Amino acid sequence: MTGPLKRLYIKTYGCQMNVYDSERMTDVLTPLGYGVTDSPIGADLVVLNTCHIREKATEKVYSELGLIKEMKQEKALTGQAMTVVVAGCVAQAEGAEIMRRQPAVDLVVGPQAYHQLPELIARTHRSRGERLAADFAADAKFDALSSERHPTGVTAFLTVQEGCDKFCTFCVVPYTRGAEWSRPEDTILAEARSLAEQGVREVTLLGQNVNAYTGGLAKLVRALAKIDGLDRIRYMTSHPKDMDDDLIAAHGEVQELMPYLHLPVQSGSDKILKAMNRAHTADSYLKTLERVRAARPDIALSGDFIVGFPGERESDFQATLDLVQAVGHAAAFSFKYSPRPGTPAAAMPGQVAEAVKDERLARLNALLDDQQKAFNAAQVGKTLPVLFEKPGRHPGQLSGRSPYLQAVHCEGPADLIGQIVPVTITSAAKMSLAGQVISAPAMS
Ligand code: SAH
Ligand code: SF4
Ligand code: F3S
Repeated sequence: MTGPLKRLYIKTYGCQMNVYDSERMTDVLTPLGYGVTDSPIGADLVVLNTCHIREKATEKVYSELGLIKEMKQEKALTGQAMTVVVAGCVAQAEGAEIMRRQPAVDLVVGPQAYHQLPELIARTHRSRGERLAADFAADAKFDALSSERHPTGVTAFLTVQEGCDKFCTFCVVPYTRGAEWSRPEDTILAEARSLAEQGVREVTLLGQNVNAYTGGLAKLVRALAKIDGLDRIRYMTSHPKDMDDDLIAAHGEVQELMPYLHLPVQSGSDKILKAMNRAHTADSYLKTLERVRAARPDIALSGDFIVGFPGERESDFQATLDLVQAVGHAAAFSFKYSPRPGTPAAAMPGQVAEAVKDERLARLNALLDDQQKAFNAAQVGKTLPVLFEKPGRHPGQLSGRSPYLQAVHCEGPADLIGQIVPVTITSAAKMSLAGQVISAPAMS
């Protein structure tokens, strides 16, 4: 490579799929001489990889762009240019509107066009050509990206599926990520092998509807489990409708498949679920969990919840609390309904007042917090295999994860990073566990 390193700043918003995409954008830009920097000040190329899921997420992007604009102007005073790229779901949803709202933006690139970044950036540098790339063909993207990865740790994300055909009435994802599409198994396995060869011990398979993977997610999991060095497999996010028998069976049979399931339910009221177009009822959801628990009794359960969907009455919300009680969660994500332009729910009657949403969210979170604390507290005294990922916050401390995705902090030597080690859990808090390494595994 010739010439000085150009500085690339990427900021990632939203879900894990964006985290994966940011990594892949870095991969395609590195050969052009870009090196990642952790501040936008003075950067040559700024990429905001954006999220459109809730109004707040979108507004954050515009306020960040206001700051970036000032940095760009300052850089211009020294005769140097800063190229500003908006990628991700806001790019796909709002397109050229972004450049109208913030003229400092040079390029708008949707999630399926990242492989074109080098060419698009070169074109903007020549100040001609399109400044908007927002097509929908996921296959072109994955064909163009190599299976070679450059992981920075012992865990990695691996996108296996993109897009969504479910059209929940509140959600923008089918409009920003396009139709459901699955990557061919051979390219996924090649990427996973590349990761494992570079010391990755755990992969999390990603997809907006990862269990809708064509050909069966269970089959893919079983194939991945055979890769040497890959000892832990996780996946997210799943739709209850696609939780098939084979995947449930895999939870009981595949040792590498971790006992953690993130299965968003959104609401416990059948009336609201119907209005959301969720294709499951509270009862069918609970029955699915029963089957999963029968296959893997210790499975940690997690979900997503929306409070204050249009038409949600106190009794509907109560049904959500009842469902939460019935499940017992290890973790959960709860949101106030945010009307998104162009989605059916935004135009529904019975929009719920903000104050009511706030109050319901607080009640739901109190219950979920109690469950999370109880789940963590139940681990105290047990010995769990922990994959150490990185140094902890204090010197001599290590940070890792239990099979149930809990953060675990321990005293221990740095050479345990990348190893799966039995740890006796000594105490628990809401967000993490503390423990003691009982024995280092034999060196291999
Ligand atoms: N594909 C995943 C979730 C994608 S979005 C699934 O179907 O489960 C992640 C979460 O954001 C959703 O599960 C939902 O709980 C929340 N969400 C999506 N749209 C929202 C909106 N308009 N307002 C509030 N929360 C929303
Ligand atoms: Fe959105 Fe529903 Fe698709 Fe999930 S399944 S991405 S919530 S439309
Ligand atoms: Fe957000 Fe797009 Fe992910 S809207 S949650 S970044 S799929």
